Amino acid sequence: MPVDIQSPSLCIGIVGTGAMGRGIAQIAAQAGIRVLLFDALHGAATSARETVIATLGKLAEKGKISAEALAAASAKLEVVPKLDAMASAQVVVEAIVENLDVKKALFQQLEDIIAADCILATNTSSLSVTSIAAACKRPERVGGFHFFNPVPLMKIVEVIDGLVTAPWVSEALLALGRRMGHTAVGARDTPGFIVNHAGRGFVTEALRVLGESVAEFHEIDRIMREAAGFRMGPFELLDLTGLDVSQPVMESIYNQYYQEPRYRPSAIAAQRLAGGLLGRKTGRGFYAYANGTAAAMPVASVPAGKPASVWISQTHPEWAEVLRDIVAAAGVTVEIDHDPGPEALCIVTPLGGDATTSCLMQGLDPQRTVAIDGLFGLAAGTTKRRTLMTTPLTTAAMRDAAHALFAVDGTAVSVIRDSAGFVAQRIVACIVNIGCDIAQQRVASPADIDRAVSLGLGYPRGPLAFGDALGARNVLAVLENMQQFYGDPRYRPSPWLKRRALLGVSLLTEET
Ligand SMILES: NC(=O)c1ccc[n+]([C@@H]2O[C@H](COP(=O)([O-])OP(=O)(O)OC[C@H]3O[C@@H](n4cnc5c(N)ncnc54)[C@H](O)[C@@H]3O)[C@@H](O)[C@H]2O)c1
Repeated sequence: MPVDIQSPSLCIGIVGTGAMGRGIAQIAAQAGIRVLLFDALHGAATSARETVIATLGKLAEKGKISAEALAAASAKLEVVPKLDAMASAQVVVEAIVENLDVKKALFQQLEDIIAADCILATNTSSLSVTSIAAACKRPERVGGFHFFNPVPLMKIVEVIDGLVTAPWVSEALLALGRRMGHTAVGARDTPGFIVNHAGRGFVTEALRVLGESVAEFHEIDRIMREAAGFRMGPFELLDLTGLDVSQPVMESIYNQYYQEPRYRPSAIAAQRLAGGLLGRKTGRGFYAYANGTAAAMPVASVPAGKPASVWISQTHPEWAEVLRDIVAAAGVTVEIDHDPGPEALCIVTPLGGDATTSCLMQGLDPQRTVAIDGLFGLAAGTTKRRTLMTTPLTTAAMRDAAHALFAVDGTAVSVIRDSAGFVAQRIVACIVNIGCDIAQQRVASPADIDRAVSLGLGYPRGPLAFGDALGARNVLAVLENMQQFYGDPRYRPSPWLKRRALLGVSLLTEET
């Protein structure tokens, strides 16, 4: 490798010292790397250096780093007045404005300055590394080096291979990312790379669920947090990121993949963006904020009373068994081995289907049928929230009786309107399916996809491990049933998922 990344005298240049450039400078300096800081805006690099040193000073005050480490890292940060100074760098990382022509012009200029073996790295999140490299005389030394904001806390970097990036360049960037204390994953140059591509399922499907009036946004958030285990609900995430940031990303990736239905953005988000309801930053997004805190949303009270008896569908015997225990523990008669009695509440357990179809296929009375989502755990202690779903004809009395019954052991209950795949089944199935398709396209190795998504998006698991935990066959069934119900190619299963589910192997299985 022409560049010795482990060398104590390694020197990197950072061009563009805004939010990202500063973060990269901080972790590089903390790793003992000499950092040259340049920004086109007069004074910006100096102010970036001061900010980084102040941040390191706070870490030292809190005892997170030693006084020696503070002094050593601070001494590594050098502001340079001209781009010419990049002649001493072995790697130059650009973190300037996200504009293809400006980035191309910068790399062309740098090519006349830098050493023969110097690597040119771009922190772009939405532009093609191959296109940026195409402007260079030596495009093989250009690679993507995609960090996340805030860099010191988001301990992941994607190293992107353009079509002609030389292997030694990506190896060097992977080693540099690791030397800076981050998990470095390799990816091919494709729209959204790994993390921004994998992130398309969560929010776009949640917006579809909202668009179908299946549940209120805050109920969808509760289900995704307390049943599916996400740290944040999709609407809380949209409010945090701001629609001015997330809607253009949704549209850009959708269009870069030539209107791939899996990534289809939502008219709901477009309208809210146009209306200025951006999220926390404007004080109002899906939630209203006062002093940075979201207004509390209503919680439906648990109705009184219980059903006279409960008939439980046997379509998923393992779930039926848990349901029987819950119902019996509540002191309610369980009907299992015969048709439902005339008063019985009928419980069905669809997988990717809706309550109505499930009810009619089993010859049940839609007025007395309620569906429950079994995929994310049913027993108290295995889930914090159970999701119940009514048919359009379920009576209020039956709905309330089911709500009371499944809340009796203290587990929270969400009651939603009919939806093929409830809320969590359909959102998680979309996440797993997109993760599988990223693997199918060989954008990155299955293990790196999961690592990047867990660290970059903070999901409870990477998409492939999530699919394994739910059962690849279950996820396939959810998608196939949704595709049949909606007739929308958005839900067509990825070949990666289909083959591994049929073979009964882990979604992390690579081909030999
Ligand atoms: N902010 C994020 O969350 C994030 C995450 C990942 C990647 N990125 C990418 O990182 C890059 C920088 O983003 P940011 O949020 O730090 O932007 P920023 O606006 O905070 O900083 C950009 C800096 O670059 C300087 N600059 C602009 N044009 C220049 C030029 N031609 N030469 C030298 N300096 C120039 C500006 O003066 C500014 O200081 C973009 O490509 C962006 O897409 C951003």
